[in-house]
Amino acid sequence: MPSVTYLHVDGTKQVIDVPVGKRIMQAAVAAGIDGIVAECGGQAMCATCHVYVDEAWADSFAPISDEEDEMLDETVCERTQASRLSCQLVVTDRADGLIVRLPATQV
Ligand code: FES
Repeated sequence: MPSVTYLHVDGTKQVIDVPVGKRIMQAAVAAGIDGIVAECGGQAMCATCHVYVDEAWADSFAPISDEEDEMLDETVCERTQASRLSCQLVVTDRADGLIVRLPATQV
């Protein structure tokens, strides 16, 4: 099962095993990880599941859709090249070792 590290702005790391097919947002919410709000429940309509995907894993996920791209313009913290909506990130075996950085705030 892929191991995913959620890295908080204060440097705190939370590492969880995420089943293939699960979304990065779903795994974080289920594990009670602070920093992902996910107000819309994964519909790409709120941008409160914003994360920064470490460059080494950028190709491990489907490209940004038009819908996700629009919502990424609504994030509270700065959008960067690494920005993704974690509800759109489906875990595959290639995600093992993935590091996602959490923004300072989602709302
Ligand atoms: S949970 Fe709302 S956009 Fe991801």
